[in-house]
Amino acid sequence: MSPQLKKIGIAGCGTIGQKVASELDQGKVPGATLAAMTSRNLDRVKAFVDTLANPVPVLPLDELVQLVDMVVEAATGQALNDIATETLKAGKDLMALSGGALLDRQDLCDLASANGATIYVPSGAIAGLDGVVSASAGRIDSVTMTTRKPPAGLKGAPGVANLDFDLDTLKEPRIVFEGPTAEACKLFPANVNVSAALSMAGIGSKKTTIRIYADPTVTKNTHEIVVEGEFGRLAIKIENTPSPTNPRTGVLSALSAIASLKKLTSPLQIGT
Ligand SMILES: NC(=O)c1ccc[n+]([C@@H]2O[C@H](COP(=O)([O-])OP(=O)(O)OC[C@H]3O[C@@H](n4cnc5c(N)ncnc54)[C@H](O)[C@@H]3O)[C@@H](O)[C@H]2O)c1
Repeated sequence: MSPQLKKIGIAGCGTIGQKVASELDQGKVPGATLAAMTSRNLDRVKAFVDTLANPVPVLPLDELVQLVDMVVEAATGQALNDIATETLKAGKDLMALSGGALLDRQDLCDLASANGATIYVPSGAIAGLDGVVSASAGRIDSVTMTTRKPPAGLKGAPGVANLDFDLDTLKEPRIVFEGPTAEACKLFPANVNVSAALSMAGIGSKKTTIRIYADPTVTKNTHEIVVEGEFGRLAIKIENTPSPTNPRTGVLSALSAIASLKKLTSPLQIGT
């Protein structure tokens, strides 16, 4: 007898939510099926769901969590707390893309634990978390991330509200933030979710440092990660192609969520 399919609910119907929903709908994730969707604007989700081969119910969050085994959060940092709390309270697993809002939320981990649920944080827009997790089983001395984004991709972030230069007319790279990821995730909530995953994989958000450049010379969101410790040195650079529907979100981010869903029920587990 084939094992039961894991029922997936998706909260958020933007670039990542739609891509994950489409792949599930097309049966491309063995072991999982799309069961329901929710978002801020339910009518808009209905319009999207109607384009799927197998339209699923569009429900408010509290009803959706009752129908599913796992909620994939692909909404916003602001929405994460409500989505996580409702999901975990119901004893359902959570896959969180807005990782920045999960940073230093031991209370949500405790809630998951108390209700027999698990929180999954996919690698999102970066690579190398497997190596960082491995390294963290020993001593890590430093984790540093350097992020370069086209200036337009940083617009609207609280962290660029008081710059003494204009992002629109920038001709060369300028640092807009340097410091711990704990601070960066607050100032750039839609830009550096990846640094939260990196912090959680390694030495935490107070010791992990990030340098963010507004860089008019790049067209791709670029992250360089350097980790040093007793294992040696790990250096990784990734250049992400922006998604056409949301240039702040790299194409790899949705692929990472899809790969994480595939991994859930795979009989072969690769990586740390
Ligand atoms: N971990 C990573 O590497 C990584 C990479 C890219 C994006 N992200 C994050 O993933 C999230 C989704 O990214 P995206 O590109 O799909 O964004 P998007 O802007 O394309 O879509 C977000 C969707 O969430 C919906 N939404 C807003 N408030 C909501 C609420 N309260 N409840 C439910 N839905 C709500 C919006 O209506 C929209 O449909 C964002 O927080 C983004 O910062 C993470």
